[in-house]
Amino acid sequence: MDSIKDKVAFVTGATAGIGLACAKALAAQGAKVTVASRNKEKVDATVDAFIRDGYQARGAVMDASDTDTCINAVVDTIREMGRIDIVVNNAGGTDMRRDTAVENLDLAYFHDVMNLNVLSTLATIKAALPSMIARKSGSIINIASIGGITGDFRDTYYGIAKAGIINLTKYVATQYGKQGIRCNAVAPGIIMTGAVTDNLPEAVRQIFREQNALDTLGQPEDIAATVAFLAGEGSRYITGQTIVVDGGMTCHNPTIAQIRALYS
Ligand SMILES: NC(=O)c1ccc[n+]([C@@H]2O[C@H](COP(=O)([O-])OP(=O)(O)OC[C@H]3O[C@@H](n4cnc5c(N)ncnc54)[C@H](O)[C@@H]3O)[C@@H](O)[C@H]2O)c1
Repeated sequence: MDSIKDKVAFVTGATAGIGLACAKALAAQGAKVTVASRNKEKVDATVDAFIRDGYQARGAVMDASDTDTCINAVVDTIREMGRIDIVVNNAGGTDMRRDTAVENLDLAYFHDVMNLNVLSTLATIKAALPSMIARKSGSIINIASIGGITGDFRDTYYGIAKAGIINLTKYVATQYGKQGIRCNAVAPGIIMTGAVTDNLPEAVRQIFREQNALDTLGQPEDIAATVAFLAGEGSRYITGQTIVVDGGMTCHNPTIAQIRALYS
């Protein structure tokens, strides 16, 4: 539990949802957390709230769509904190109105989704590596999605991007393991963050719940607990892996719900 105490952590998209839960989980275990996100007011408010709760925190404004800001936020963290031990690449997503099935895709939008998800992840990792290599230690955790493992009827670019993050994770693990650096991904299923609850009608939630092996929907803390585990010493022999945290959405044959109904 004490293995990340006073470690320097950097979490993107950390003012809401999964990123906020990850930042809190790391801070609650004593890490010095950089809350990195797009909106300065929200970053400041989150850092203030963390400090009020007795956590060690500082803020960084960055936009995952803008590579230079990703690099600068990491470089500033290293300059101010003296090092970086844990990087959580969480900021990401897509615009479902533009990210359609293949036949309707705007090919130009491809680059936006890749920049937001893959290039931002690559950029923060590249910026953090020199400090981690110098200390022969580091844990990088990338937030992917089950959308990077399975197919969907829309969100084509998102799926490609999250698959890219999953394999980037393996490349970083392969290239830097001998230097004491681990890199893992977490692939969430449906998680009840604002992004989801604002857009998900009750009927759709019900479908997700029925298709999950467990009878629950995920909470941001479910991802944060896995991220905190991957950040600490308890996972010291795990690298290059993608941990699926999806309530059992993808562990079974998709025909199960209908076949079960036929036999019950
Ligand atoms: N919620 C889910 O069901 C789910 C499932 C699979 C994967 N994910 C992934 O988890 C991650 C977080 O999702 P969430 O549901 O917590 O989102 P969210 O919208 O609830 O929170 C997103 C956070 O990221 C920040 N942010 C948004 N765009 C940013 C940008 N361009 N640059 C920097 N910060 C930015 C927001 O300010 C906020 O703090 C994403 O990568 C998403 O693809 C989520």
